[in-house]
Amino acid sequence: MKLRKKWWTSLILTVGVGLLVSACGSGGNQSATGGGTADKVYVVGTDAAYPPFQVLEADGKITGHDIDVLNAVAEAAGFKVEWKNTGWDPLFDGLDRGTVDIGISSITITDDRKKKYDFSEPYFEANQLILVAEDSPVNTLADLKGKKIGVQGATTGGEVVKKAFGDTYQGLKEYDDMPSAVDDFFNGRVEAVIGDNGVIQYYVKKIQDKKFKLIKDDSFEKENYGIMVKKGNTEIMNKINEGLKKIKENGKLEEIRNQYFGKE
Ligand code: ARG
Repeated sequence: MKLRKKWWTSLILTVGVGLLVSACGSGGNQSATGGGTADKVYVVGTDAAYPPFQVLEADGKITGHDIDVLNAVAEAAGFKVEWKNTGWDPLFDGLDRGTVDIGISSITITDDRKKKYDFSEPYFEANQLILVAEDSPVNTLADLKGKKIGVQGATTGGEVVKKAFGDTYQGLKEYDDMPSAVDDFFNGRVEAVIGDNGVIQYYVKKIQDKKFKLIKDDSFEKENYGIMVKKGNTEIMNKINEGLKKIKENGKLEEIRNQYFGKE
């Protein structure tokens, strides 16, 4: 009898929840039944651990410069998006597997990435910076030879180190995300961190009780951030570029930039 009662309860529950889910189903990342592409919700992946470009707030909300940029692009071009905090490496996997439609995550447009992905027009200019302690004898990238350097794995920060000291440089420590690299630097486990200027400058400003030195090596090239899709996904890329063009022309992109970085 007891068992029977349980069985009924769970049946009612299952049916009830099922009905509720199908009633609210249009909020998911599939297009609603009968809807055209206008109803499609594109999944945007990001590594929300790269302040102030991508930030995971305490309440689980993803905020930051790049989030504002893509939301403005989507609004200008008239498409809907849903955000997903994928992390860095899984963002690329997600695009490969089709679980993510669009990637925005301070991603530098590189020839290597262009083999597998398509990029929008640039939306932000950046360069690498070396972060060391204020009293460090290091003044150039070459001065770091033989020392431990922290970077986020599979980023252009790692690339500059490999270019200077070789692909198998023993001192290169690659972390899954930028905060882990920065933590190890503050704890003295690496001599330097190399990363995108906006992010390095953010941490330096935030940590008030210590003093640092920021170095831009002569070998560091100008980088451009782009919005990324799987190669050949031209339908969405055209919309992205259309929206991006609009927010460049109407001043919205600059307004977002100024909001996070001030006027230069
Ligand atoms: N701009 C660099 C690159 O593309 C680093 C980007 C890292 N982004 C992030 N959200 N962790 O390689």
